[in-house]
Amino acid sequence: MEYRNLLFEASGRIATITFNRPKALNALNPETMRDLSAALREAAGREDIGAVILTGAGEKAFIAGADISEMKSFTPMQALDFAQAGQEVLSFIERMPQPVIAAVNGFALGGGCETAMACDLIVAADTARFGQPEVSLGIIPGYGGTQRLPRLVGRNIAKELVLCGDMISAQRAFEIGLVNRVVPAAELMAAAREIAGKILSRGPTAVRAAKMAMNRGLDLDLPNACALEASLFAAGFSTADRLEGITAFLEKRKANFIGK
Ligand code: CAA
Repeated sequence: MEYRNLLFEASGRIATITFNRPKALNALNPETMRDLSAALREAAGREDIGAVILTGAGEKAFIAGADISEMKSFTPMQALDFAQAGQEVLSFIERMPQPVIAAVNGFALGGGCETAMACDLIVAADTARFGQPEVSLGIIPGYGGTQRLPRLVGRNIAKELVLCGDMISAQRAFEIGLVNRVVPAAELMAAAREIAGKILSRGPTAVRAAKMAMNRGLDLDLPNACALEASLFAAGFSTADRLEGITAFLEKRKANFIGK
């Protein structure tokens, strides 16, 4: 499928979705969010795709946030619709079966930082910058930033970032646990593909269940989260991949998973 503001490329079981409005630093306007929703659903529905990478076109930005010019005339009800629609798209990243890796190549601000945080892992170029600068515009984050950031980095660090609205370096983002890896800019996509390739070599049904256990479990109290884990653990014993993975280990050979 063709998208206006995104590039969608599939290669070797990895789909790469590239935000492609470099003149506006890949800011998220409603059309881009509709494209993103459709592209994620396309990837989720394709059995030949086992992992997804999100990145930004150009060297400057991953995503510089929601499109500020589009927000200027919002009424409160339009702002509510805007936030809920964006949150739904980003929540789908957490619900979709494949792992999603953010390859952050530059500014990841506001809705850009929020998009990265909805992904399963974040790899950043050493030149990337992260932040939730909304308070500088007199508004608050609307795509989940006040909720995912404290869950990822802890309440007080999140408050400093959201209340001061400052940008931080990729290295600082790594230190606070927002980012998994920082690599030289030229190696960003190779690093993201290497992680995706490693995940693709593992049991696909197990990877899917593990993502679900962690994403759903983090919204539950510990007894219910552990009950969810036990159910998914048990369900894994109905798969051919479980038989293959355990047999391959015992036979001292590489597993040949089929994703069933
Ligand atoms: N929306 C719309 N356009 C944007 C944009 C945004 N979020 N960010 C940058 N642009 C546009 C600029 O207006 C500019 O366009 P023109 O060339 O037509 O003037 C172009 O991209 C290049 O930007 P700058 O000239 O500003 O580039 P810079 O290098 O001087 O600064 C920057 C880069 C620090 C990222 C700066 O552009 C900036 O601060 N952008 C806004 C960041 C921001 O506040 N994001 C949060 C948005 S609100 C939000 O996201 C709410 C939410 O939770 C969903």
